[in-house]
Amino acid sequence: MVLLHRIHFRPGNRCIIEHNPPEHVGLYRSTFPANLPSIGVANRTRSGILFILPVLESRKSKNNAMAYTPQILAFAGSTRAGSLNKHLVHHALQGAKGAGAEATFFDLAAYRMPLYDADLEEREGIPETAKRVRALMKDHDGFLLASPEYNMSITGVLKNTIDWVSRPDGDDGTCIAFHNKAVTLMSASPSGFGGSRSLQHIREILSGMGCIVLPNQLSLPSAHKAFDSEGNLLDERKQQQVSALGADLAGFLTRLYG
Ligand SMILES: Cc1cc2nc3c(=O)[nH]c(=O)nc-3n(C[C@H](O)[C@H](O)[C@H](O)COP(=O)(O)O)c2cc1C
Repeated sequence: MVLLHRIHFRPGNRCIIEHNPPEHVGLYRSTFPANLPSIGVANRTRSGILFILPVLESRKSKNNAMAYTPQILAFAGSTRAGSLNKHLVHHALQGAKGAGAEATFFDLAAYRMPLYDADLEEREGIPETAKRVRALMKDHDGFLLASPEYNMSITGVLKNTIDWVSRPDGDDGTCIAFHNKAVTLMSASPSGFGGSRSLQHIREILSGMGCIVLPNQLSLPSAHKAFDSEGNLLDERKQQQVSALGADLAGFLTRLYG
C-alpha cells in the first residue's frame, strides 16, 4: 500500500518521510528532479516509502508570514515536589528560551491519572487529564524530558502517562501526540549512573511511537548534591551543558521547520 497524502512537492523541499516499519522515521531532503514535480515521483524514485506526511508543509503555511519560533514542551518523569529532574529540565528550558524558543514547563503532578486499565477505558473513556496532556503535546513541536530511573528503567508515572496519551480518541489516532516530535532526553539521580539506564528504555519507547529522539542526551550523577536550595545547578560547566541541550533542540526545530 502506498499512501501519499495532500503533499505538494517542489524540488529541493524538505519533508518528513515515514517508512514502514516506523523505526525508520526520519528527516530527509528530497532531491527530486525539477522536471518531475508530482507526488508520483516519490514512489518512482525511492522504493519502500509508504507514507509522506504533510507535517512540514502545514507548519510552514502556519508560519508563512513570520519567522518560525520553536514550540517546546518541558516536563519531568517525576511528580515529586522537590524533584531533581524538574530542576534539571528547567535549566534546559532556559537554554531553549535563550535560543529563541517558546518553552513551557508542565508538571505531571498536576495531571494525575489512574493506572491504565483497558476495562476502565472502555467504561469511562480517556481521563480528562490524559486528554489535556495530549492536547499540550500536540501543540508543541519538541519535548525536553528529564526523568529519574526507577529500578533501571522508566518511572511508572511516566509510562502510565505515555500509555494513556497514546490511546486513540475521536479523530486522534494512536500515538498522534508523539508523531515527529523532536525529543531531548536527560536524567538526574543521586547514583553514579545518573539515571542513564532509564534513558535507553525511554529512547526506545518514544522512537517506537514516532518521536525523533535526538542523539545528544545528558545524565547527571550525584544529583542530590548538584543543586542549591533554589534548584540552581552549582557547577557552571554542567549548567552550560544542560542549557546547550535545550538550545540544540530549538536549533534542530528551526532547521526542520524554519
Ligand atoms: C522505586 C524507586 C526505584 C529507584 N531506582 C533507581 C535506580 O534504578 N537507579 C537510580 O539511579 N536511582 C533509583 N532510584 C532513586 C531515584 O533516582 C531518586 O529517588 C531520584 O531523586 C528520583 O528523581 P526525582 O528527584 O526527580 O524525583 C529509585 C527510587 C525509587 C523510589
